[in-house]
Amino acid sequence: MPDLKVKLGPLELRNPVLSASGTYGHGLEMCHFTPPERLGGLVSKTVTPRPRPGNAAPRICETEAGLINSIGLENRGLDAYVADTLPTMAGADTVVFTNIGGESPEEFADVAARLDAEEAVDALEINLSCPNVDGGRLPFATSPESAARVVALVRAATEKPIFAKLSPNVAGLGDIARAVEEAGADGVTAVNTLLALSVDWRTGQPGVATVQGGYSGPAIKPVALRCAWECARSVSIPVIGCGGVATADDVLEYLVAGCTAVQLGTACFADPALPGRVVADLDRKLAEAGVATAAELIGTIADGRPAAGGSRDAHLQEAAR
Ligand code: FUM
Repeated sequence: MPDLKVKLGPLELRNPVLSASGTYGHGLEMCHFTPPERLGGLVSKTVTPRPRPGNAAPRICETEAGLINSIGLENRGLDAYVADTLPTMAGADTVVFTNIGGESPEEFADVAARLDAEEAVDALEINLSCPNVDGGRLPFATSPESAARVVALVRAATEKPIFAKLSPNVAGLGDIARAVEEAGADGVTAVNTLLALSVDWRTGQPGVATVQGGYSGPAIKPVALRCAWECARSVSIPVIGCGGVATADDVLEYLVAGCTAVQLGTACFADPALPGRVVADLDRKLAEAGVATAAELIGTIADGRPAAGGSRDAHLQEAAR
């Protein structure tokens, strides 16, 4: 059996497969489909200081190859999360990430400070990059300075490992990744959804009430993979890949591009049992390819020149089919 364990900064994951924030409940809602102990970790929906009702409906729109969402960070707020959700997570035999949000850097830090005392939380993912609030302006994700300011305040507020979730809707993503590394992040998640729009030309009605929303699903995988690769080559902290992942092959591509762990998101809406199957497929594919550990694939992307016959990549690709 291949060894799927990976070391994500200070965290040990039993395998590189995580749920993506906002697609897999807040806690253990999906445990009947995939037992938490099968996964590397669970990532919550964003928790904000106060309850948020979210955006007006419609908030979800399917397109040819993906999904546009504009949920608007709906959640019951930090008090309800601590009182109702976290007690149920205490026995979860997996790594628990709470994804946190706020309307100012100080609010992010307040949420982090409160969760610092919560044993059920193993790590925080800082949502710098939701495209569905503030008119899609992404105030915390679009410059190294603004991203670093949030991360620095969160760093000062907690000793838990912190991961900054970055946006693909920027130029110079590597600079932003470097800035959050310098501000004290233990890792980055690359990436959140792409700003997108869908419209019915007959009625003029957009797919979501906010007109633009965040695009996810298979269509974004090459874009998100490139973003994750750019982050991985820019920083020395670990990168969690996210975007369009639906199969074990997708997970392995993200590892080769430089990621240490990978989140499954939109595909879980159609098939909540998918993460467990992806883990089983990872085992099988690595065994078939003669790869002993998932970790040894991390960052092994070639330089792009065609390899001379019989390269590791060619052999792996053949064996993994
Ligand atoms: O609208 C939303 O709640 C989406 C959040 C996100 O993409 O971070």
